[in-house]
Amino acid sequence: MTQSITLPRPDDWHLHLRDGAMLQGVLPETARHFARAIIMPNLVPPVVTLADAQAYHGRIMAALPKGMHFEPLMVLYLTEGTDPADVAAAHASGLVKAVKLYPAGATTNSHGGVRDIDKVRGVLEKMAEIGLPLCVHGEVTTPEVDIFDREAVFIDTVLDPLRRSIPGLRVVMEHITTEQGVAYARAGGDDLAATITTHHLIINRNHILAGGIKPHYYCLPVAKREQHRLALRAAATSGEPRFFLGTDSAPHVDALKEHACGCAGCFTATNTMPLLAHVFEEEGALDKLEHFAARNGPAFYRLPVNKTTMTLTKGAAAQWPDKILTEAGPVTVFNPGFPVHWHVEG
Ligand code: DOR
Ligand code: ZN
Repeated sequence: MTQSITLPRPDDWHLHLRDGAMLQGVLPETARHFARAIIMPNLVPPVVTLADAQAYHGRIMAALPKGMHFEPLMVLYLTEGTDPADVAAAHASGLVKAVKLYPAGATTNSHGGVRDIDKVRGVLEKMAEIGLPLCVHGEVTTPEVDIFDREAVFIDTVLDPLRRSIPGLRVVMEHITTEQGVAYARAGGDDLAATITTHHLIINRNHILAGGIKPHYYCLPVAKREQHRLALRAAATSGEPRFFLGTDSAPHVDALKEHACGCAGCFTATNTMPLLAHVFEEEGALDKLEHFAARNGPAFYRLPVNKTTMTLTKGAAAQWPDKILTEAGPVTVFNPGFPVHWHVEG
């Protein structure tokens, strides 16, 4: 029996496209399946102002192959020098859909991020007033805090006090990786949501470290114990409006992944939708895939659900390239380590 499901065309609520040759190489991988994506601003130099976002948006549209349709939803990188008036103008322009908080030093190109949250209170208060979401990389950077605890400690010591002190601030907890993240997002009101990546539904920390180190499974926040992966799967497949897809597909060339100090990031743009169909089927929740990948995100961002559709069909083992060959170098596609039988039609 052929099994297939049709859902509104999905969106990716957390994506790294980079710039230049890498952008050119990876953009079709996302645009082939996704109508829109929240575009991370951690370029070098970062996308800080409305003018930066307009210029980057132009470069993305110029890199889009003819005949492909894709809408980049732009994001500003919050710095201690960000001007609340520029953020308000960015929101009013309609081009910018969120501001990203990177604690300085938390991840790739985050050194220009925020050290002292008090220095950005004016911007955050303006965002609460105008309803512009704050996307948060939720990890403390304190060297003494174990890397596997950094998300849970961030929620208790930074995120919760911040939300209490700025009522009405709309927050997306990006790429949650813990049961504490799931519980906190679930307990929040309508102003709180969380994205979950494809790979965190599939790997736990053993996949990275047991039987030899697997650099292509290393990302930040790093995958945690199995109990956390199971909590993420339950949340993603629940259909609850708080949870939606943000792949955090983060391309780095192989030379920088397979390195003595390897970069963080899993590249899942190519195969996310077949992988999600596999996971949702395993959880007996194929009917919830559209909520996770196509409905809950637009509802939080106050955007319409896409009118076009995507059909996924189950059949022979799915094939995708091991690597995307960009002009910047090869990028390894996330390998789930098991056969997948779901295909995107068309
Ligand atoms: O794994 C990650 N890669 N996590 C991040 O937060 C940043 C991203 C990147 O830009 O490579
Ligand atoms: Zn990211």
